[in-house]
Amino acid sequence: MMVTMHVCVTCLAGKDRETVPRAGRRLYDALAEAQRRQDTPPGFRIVEAECLSNCNRGCSVALSGPGRWSYVYGDLNLAAVDDLLAGASRYATTEDGLVPWRERPTIFRKGVIARIPPSPKPV
Ligand code: FES
Repeated sequence: MMVTMHVCVTCLAGKDRETVPRAGRRLYDALAEAQRRQDTPPGFRIVEAECLSNCNRGCSVALSGPGRWSYVYGDLNLAAVDDLLAGASRYATTEDGLVPWRERPTIFRKGVIARIPPSPKPV
């Protein structure tokens, strides 16, 4: 089943708009590079997004998948890359997106901005 990590590539993370590449772009590039070096679950993908409406706490990513709870995380930086991939891999092993609290990386526990329930099944 497909799990997606959307990464906001337009986050400034406190820098001005003229800073190129933006902090979000650098985070996306680092995640994509790390994914090439590491084993990640089949069906896990990293996708660019432009603004996750969490600009004041960027860099930001969102995790989602069919039938799963979705999460938005913020206050991220390049040091979070390995933990983000580890957390996403753990998320991908669940059927509903609910990873036990103690098994979540610290950045997921401290940086969670919102969680959204899965869409209800059609009646
Ligand atoms: S620019 Fe990244 S969340 Fe808005």
